[in-house]
Amino acid sequence: MSLSMNSTSSNSQNTLRINRDYFGRDLNQAADQLAPQARSALHSLQNKSCAGAEFTGWFDWPAGRGFSLAQDILTWQKSLTVDYDLIVVIGIGGSYLGARAVADLMTHTFASAPGIESTVTGKPMIVFAGHNMSETSLGELLDLMSTRKPMVNVISKSGTTTEPGVAFRVIRSFIEQHYPKDASKRIIATTDGKKGALRKLAVESGYKAFEVPDDVGGRYSVLSAVGLVPLALQGVDIESMLKGADRVFGDLKKPTPSAEGLVALTYAQCRTAAWNAGKRIEVTAYPEPKMRNLIEWWKQLFGESDGKNGHGLFPASIECTMDLHSMGQYMQEGARTMIETFLAVDHPRRVTKNKEHRSITVPQSKSNLDELAYLEGKPVDAVNNTAMLATRVAHSAGGVPALELRMPDFTAESLGALFAMYETACAIGGLMLGVNPFNQPGVEAYKLKMFELLGKPTN
Ligand code: PA5
Repeated sequence: MSLSMNSTSSNSQNTLRINRDYFGRDLNQAADQLAPQARSALHSLQNKSCAGAEFTGWFDWPAGRGFSLAQDILTWQKSLTVDYDLIVVIGIGGSYLGARAVADLMTHTFASAPGIESTVTGKPMIVFAGHNMSETSLGELLDLMSTRKPMVNVISKSGTTTEPGVAFRVIRSFIEQHYPKDASKRIIATTDGKKGALRKLAVESGYKAFEVPDDVGGRYSVLSAVGLVPLALQGVDIESMLKGADRVFGDLKKPTPSAEGLVALTYAQCRTAAWNAGKRIEVTAYPEPKMRNLIEWWKQLFGESDGKNGHGLFPASIECTMDLHSMGQYMQEGARTMIETFLAVDHPRRVTKNKEHRSITVPQSKSNLDELAYLEGKPVDAVNNTAMLATRVAHSAGGVPALELRMPDFTAESLGALFAMYETACAIGGLMLGVNPFNQPGVEAYKLKMFELLGKPTN
């Protein structure tokens, strides 16, 4: 398989692309040589013979179960009788980051301000809880809930995770107190299909319940009910999201993936080549503040999947251009243990009610005291895009091999494709590294110590 997938930054297509122009000749060659290994990892994923095969239900999910689940969710949503203008999603790690990533990209930065159309669809505001144990955050959330009509989606596969558990107790008691007549209609549980404390509570309390599939781990679950239910409530086009993912899985099912499936294989090969060459950190650089939680999702996916047995690139990030004025120095001249992957976007502006958000160009000015006349008339996005390219060139010249992943826009379809590409690249890369990319034994250690310190009774 050839890895000649370079595309120029100005190229605008409706698919994901990868550009390796600044990754360096040696690493590119090493990545090319890993093609047979990547293909064999893909086969073991497809025929479920890989390590952790019992958690590969996410692969080819839309065609397998996703589209019919979306139908069920949309039918249920139409039958909702409760009036709500706020969705509170409770969950941690894989049980919230995917939905939050999409929701942030679809929501106005100043959504809570009066007169601002909060989301792409004009649907309710969405907020997230249960991913920390901050009393301040919880208290401020209750303040917000007091001014709105909330609907709560509590998401926990195990049903026993401490952070969402504590938040849910507080929020449930608020709902029961403020909505004594229809409290149970304002709570939706997404959890294990049969077992666990949350499933039991949902049955006892009459909550609508959705299932986290047995064969899908938290960080691979964004296209299951874990992500689809809150996003549907927010008005995101979940069927398009699945369609985007299906496009990637469709390409991966071909004898020779040649489009977005090949991007996943190529990305996995490049990361593995970097690891083999002694690189230890992958920094994803992104151009939009709204992508912060998308990259937090990416960090969890790769960190929890790869970081085992002393292996794995540490996933880090920089927000451009903000962090170039803080971490930029280190990126340019610090320890040369990193690779950098730029996640670029052709059309980053939000589309509201089929209308692209207004374009802002650098205005003309009578005086040129700020010496910005050379930018007059240029869209700010174009300046940002050039800054990203300049950064990629400068950092790679400074000894940081640089990749570019490029997505068309932030539509649901493009995000679905991105999720599928990242998940597949992560699984393939983990298998090439010799780890089980679907378990996370290491996250138990802090919990055990915390339970001991908090005096949790042992059974
Ligand atoms: O990816 C994972 O498995 C984890 O991040 C979990 O999603 C996270 O720990 C939350 O677990 P649970 O859904 O059981 O509350």
